[in-house]
Amino acid sequence: MAPQPTMTDVGASSANGTRGAAGRPCPADLSPSGKLDAMTDAAAAKSAIASSLPAKPRIFSGIQPTGRPHLGNDLGAIRNYVALQDQYESIYCIVDYHALTHVHDPETLRRQTLEMAAALIALGLDPERCTLFVQSDRPEVTELCWLFNTVTPVGWLQRTPTFKEKRQTQPDDVNHGLLTYPVLQAADIVIYKASLVPIGKDQAPHLELSREIVRAFNSRYGETFPEPQPVYTQAPVVLGTDGTRKMSKSIGNTIEVLAEPDVIRKQIMSMVTDTQRILRSDPGRPQVCNVCQLHRHFGEDYEEIWDGERTARTGCFDTKKLLAERIIAHYAPARETYKELMADPARLRRILDEGAERIRPIAEATMTEVRERMGLR
Ligand code: TYM
Repeated sequence: MAPQPTMTDVGASSANGTRGAAGRPCPADLSPSGKLDAMTDAAAAKSAIASSLPAKPRIFSGIQPTGRPHLGNDLGAIRNYVALQDQYESIYCIVDYHALTHVHDPETLRRQTLEMAAALIALGLDPERCTLFVQSDRPEVTELCWLFNTVTPVGWLQRTPTFKEKRQTQPDDVNHGLLTYPVLQAADIVIYKASLVPIGKDQAPHLELSREIVRAFNSRYGETFPEPQPVYTQAPVVLGTDGTRKMSKSIGNTIEVLAEPDVIRKQIMSMVTDTQRILRSDPGRPQVCNVCQLHRHFGEDYEEIWDGERTARTGCFDTKKLLAERIIAHYAPARETYKELMADPARLRRILDEGAERIRPIAEATMTEVRERMGLR
């Protein structure tokens, strides 16, 4: 795993101190006196309670309800969700509001939301050790998103790489949600005052924008939110089967880790390898071959495999076949659990409902604090 931010990096210094009305530290010896003193103290105490950050850094991450996750989701993010759930208070969200910017069929959205929930649990999220919920089950986040819109210059959003990309890939559906997408993402994270965010590198621009939105809010209304920081895995960018672009369902270059073995075999056997290795006898270049790179994550012996490629002892076909069998075997237990969970949608729904209920007090407390700071109460 990539080096993780330490406690001191995540705003612990602003966690528990008494604060003035604007949320800045308010040392006792600078307090005014008399009646005003009492009022200020009362306000400060209320504010301190409302704005107290979690004692331990809180983790938050979101994933779109794209159905069964692909290898990029797992290696780039989900592995970290699972690893971090024991170290921190962790909250994971299936972001159905975000998905509405491109999924417009209600049944598809409902089905894929449940599929993603089942997949996350099958891959190792334990609803007893972390909170798993569906974004629209905690609608307070849409209010925070609106409030954040008022501190976010539109130019920041127009410059976001994903917005520019979506304008190209869905030119007939450039809905306003695509522009506001990163504002909702910022609200997702900080409504729970989370400061660490396990994500893949493709989400880095969004996270940077979240940090800027937090800074804009804090500087206008006083220190309220920690600036969230990314946490990356050892595979922050997983390339797709085309070997050049990021693995992504919208491009159709994925390896679906919980699919039936034959589907996985087909997807892996279609992978582009080292394009300069034309003949079986040509030496391969494992450093540029995506199949070789993926072997890193599925066995200690990847350097031997690379050596076979380099010396043309093995062919691309053999290396792909081995990767397919290893990936199928690695995800076999999760595939079984996934099927069991999908056979009991009522149980899944219960888990998700409980998750949303568990974090209700955090969302409500943040919104009370924010409304007060902004003059809405
Ligand atoms: P989404 O659903 O596209 O992806 C979910 C997670 O998987 C990671 N990922 C990858 N990592 C490495 N290589 C790849 N090829 C790859 N493809 C996907 C993503 O980086 C992500 O971590 N906008 C977010 C969802 C979101 C969110 C949030 C994330 C909404 N609110 C708050 C974090 C915090 C998204 O569309 O992820």
